[in-house]
Amino acid sequence: MEGKHIVVGIGSGIAAYKIPELIRLLRKRGAEVKVTTTRHALEFVTDLTLQTLSGHKVYSDVFAAINDHSTEHISLPDWADAMIVAPATHDVICKMAAGIADDALTTTLAAMRKPVVIAPAMNDKMYAGEALQEALATLASRQNVEVLDCAEGFLACGTNGRGRMQEPETLLEAVEAALTPKDWLGRRVLVTAGPTHEAIDPVRYISNHSSGKMGIALAQALLRHGADVMLVMGPTAEQWTPPVYHPAMQGVGSLRRMDVVSAQEMYEAATAAWKEADTAILAAAVADMTPATVADHKMKKGQDLTDTIALRESPDIARFMGVDKRADQCLVGFALETDNEQQNALKKLEAKHLDFIVMNSLREQGAGFGTDTNSVTIYTKEGESHRLPLASKSDIAEGILSAIHG
Ligand code: PMT
Repeated sequence: MEGKHIVVGIGSGIAAYKIPELIRLLRKRGAEVKVTTTRHALEFVTDLTLQTLSGHKVYSDVFAAINDHSTEHISLPDWADAMIVAPATHDVICKMAAGIADDALTTTLAAMRKPVVIAPAMNDKMYAGEALQEALATLASRQNVEVLDCAEGFLACGTNGRGRMQEPETLLEAVEAALTPKDWLGRRVLVTAGPTHEAIDPVRYISNHSSGKMGIALAQALLRHGADVMLVMGPTAEQWTPPVYHPAMQGVGSLRRMDVVSAQEMYEAATAAWKEADTAILAAAVADMTPATVADHKMKKGQDLTDTIALRESPDIARFMGVDKRADQCLVGFALETDNEQQNALKKLEAKHLDFIVMNSLREQGAGFGTDTNSVTIYTKEGESHRLPLASKSDIAEGILSAIHG
């Protein structure tokens, strides 16, 4: 998002109170933001707040007398790389579909040819209405428009239903996706992420320090590029709510998430998904060993626990998939090393029948478990290598996708 110009168009709905947070997130990611609103949106969020957070005057009145931006509805679309309409009310959506331009926001939209994200928010009965759904389907069919669905939950009118705007963090992802070429469209990609927990008894388990961040960054990047992602996720504290698009939307990625706990569960979910996938990227840190038996009661301090816990090997998911690989499938593993990094990674590349292995080393500052950054070397089975120096896990994920995109 660094240096991107984003226009935020605010409709007259209560969810407008969340837009200052979206502007803050966009600016934190390096984007420059300008705001345009309908006539009444400023009843819900103040001009001063929007101006302070965006660093620019707010364009809300086409006819303002003392107005140094009288042609903003033309210059904003020229300035923008993308626009988001949030909250997109019933009124704004229907006007946009019909081509009506009668205020600052809708006149700006009429001239906008760059990617536009629509984030609807309204009462659930209004959202289910025929006119609105027809308007959303019309917008979804336009080349430059990406229409989000409403989320379900508690609505400001006091009811529960589908009508909530998706949260600012998710809207940020949707804007990023709208700016990204859909060069993975139609590809079905399996991603494994996070650790596994191997139960000793109902209270304790064996695990490792994987947070799931690297795998989530890969799933996010794949979705941005339009892939259909199957994410097999081990136990994680990471919160991630990806954008959900309106059912009429074509040409965007999709996500199926399967949460698992143990290596055995990850094996079952991953090998089943592998049959449908054309690519798999295995970023999970699967526990190599699992207790041979799981006690059905909490083991007591003392003898129970100081006795040896018998372990057996858990299934090597990558290896099973490598042996089972079809000629049209691409298998990408990770290697987390502490020494003899290159040698160990190359051994795994061969033993697991991988096409690529992404090596990260715990000896490098900022790489590996739990961090928001990573640095990796990607080795191919043809003997080539690419180095991706320390960067955010999001940028590393982009680098991995470029390296393996065949
Ligand atoms: O989750 P984060 O906190 O963001 O950390 C990211 C990470 C360090 C976990 C990630 O970048 C990473 O390196 N993941 C792989 C860790 C690992 O288990 O490496 P390995 O060298 O032990 O395994 C080699 C490959 O075989 C991996 O693709 C692994 O998923 C796979 N494997 C391993 C064991 C097993 N039983 N089944 C497997 O499929």
